[in-house]
Amino acid sequence: MKVYFDNAATTALDERVLEAMLPYMREHYGNPSSVHSAGREVRTAIEKARKKVAELLSASPSEIFFTSGGTEADNTAIFCGIESQEITHAITSPLEHHAVLHPLEELEKKGKIRLNFVEVDEQGSLNMDHLRTLLENNPKAFVSIMHANNEIGNINDIETIGQLCKEHHAYFHSDTVQTVGHYVHNLSGTLVNATAGAGHKFHGPKGTGFLYVKKDKKIHPLLLGGAQERNMRGGTENVYGIIGIAKALEIAYEEMSSHRRHIESLKAHFIQVLKEHIPDVEFNGLSADMENSLYTVLNVSLPPSEENRGMVLFNLDLQGVAASGGSACSSGAAVGSHVLRAINHNPERDSVRFSFSRFNTLEEINYTVEKIKELYVAVH
Ligand SMILES: Cc1ncc(COP(=O)(O)O)c(C=O)c1O
Repeated sequence: MKVYFDNAATTALDERVLEAMLPYMREHYGNPSSVHSAGREVRTAIEKARKKVAELLSASPSEIFFTSGGTEADNTAIFCGIESQEITHAITSPLEHHAVLHPLEELEKKGKIRLNFVEVDEQGSLNMDHLRTLLENNPKAFVSIMHANNEIGNINDIETIGQLCKEHHAYFHSDTVQTVGHYVHNLSGTLVNATAGAGHKFHGPKGTGFLYVKKDKKIHPLLLGGAQERNMRGGTENVYGIIGIAKALEIAYEEMSSHRRHIESLKAHFIQVLKEHIPDVEFNGLSADMENSLYTVLNVSLPPSEENRGMVLFNLDLQGVAASGGSACSSGAAVGSHVLRAINHNPERDSVRFSFSRFNTLEEINYTVEKIKELYVAVH
């Protein structure tokens, strides 16, 4: 059996998305910046896609900039937001994706900003009092706190964080890559100034994304060149990618509640059977808390085991189960996850991040638990 439980890394392209993209690969190949009709028809399609994305996220089309993915959107918000707003202090959390941490650390290294990290507890919850203190001591800071964590699934209260940022005149960027397409966003109604999305996390094409920047919080472009994206991102647009991300988001919204119900029931079942069959199983962060974590992510901490140490992902892969360690792997050696380290995860225990999509089934969950049982229970 082949099981794909790595949907937080990327998802399968929806067939309907591919169908929407194909005409822009075959027939409609004009450059959208060209003034002839072949260019103009493509320009119209891009603007229609922008309008659709904006409408779904309750934003204005002028606030949506298409990018090459979540990383570029986060980098633009950070490098250009900080420069444009003449900010000298940034606040983030140790649990952010590297697309956020690395640009901030780079700016700190170059002496452009001072950087503070909000404290987190062993479940990965932010210490809001600490955030308040940091904001009080550093008004007009740049705050980057993700909406939901890609490894342990914790959902942060971005409304409260936005309110705190507003009170202290901070610029609030939130990496929403793991929630766009899975939760309803009402961007015009929130206090978030900039967010990011990536098409491949919700069955759209890879290498596509968007940056949302609130109207009155204009920032400079990251890529300089032509006047594309209203001077916010030079370079000929990824036309079929833009068509694809808009179509994927449209489908995600149309089918969100039924997909959510299906995936939630898979996750609840997974938690239950793991507890039943794997003695001493634990769940990292808030991932087993159905209310406060992504319904798409379950991060499982397995009991210490000499036989499996550092080999669980490999052994599961041998059984056809694709999951992730929430860690970067290089040449077969697992490099510890910065997220698990920040929440003091016991290094004796192996952790596996299982992440789900609407294409997964109960049968796949049962099969996977059976394989974990064979690895962990059979040998003891
Ligand atoms: C929370 C988060 N932010 C940013 C990214 C980067 O997105 P992309 O791979 O589209 O650049 C990811 C992707 O793994 C993510 O999970």
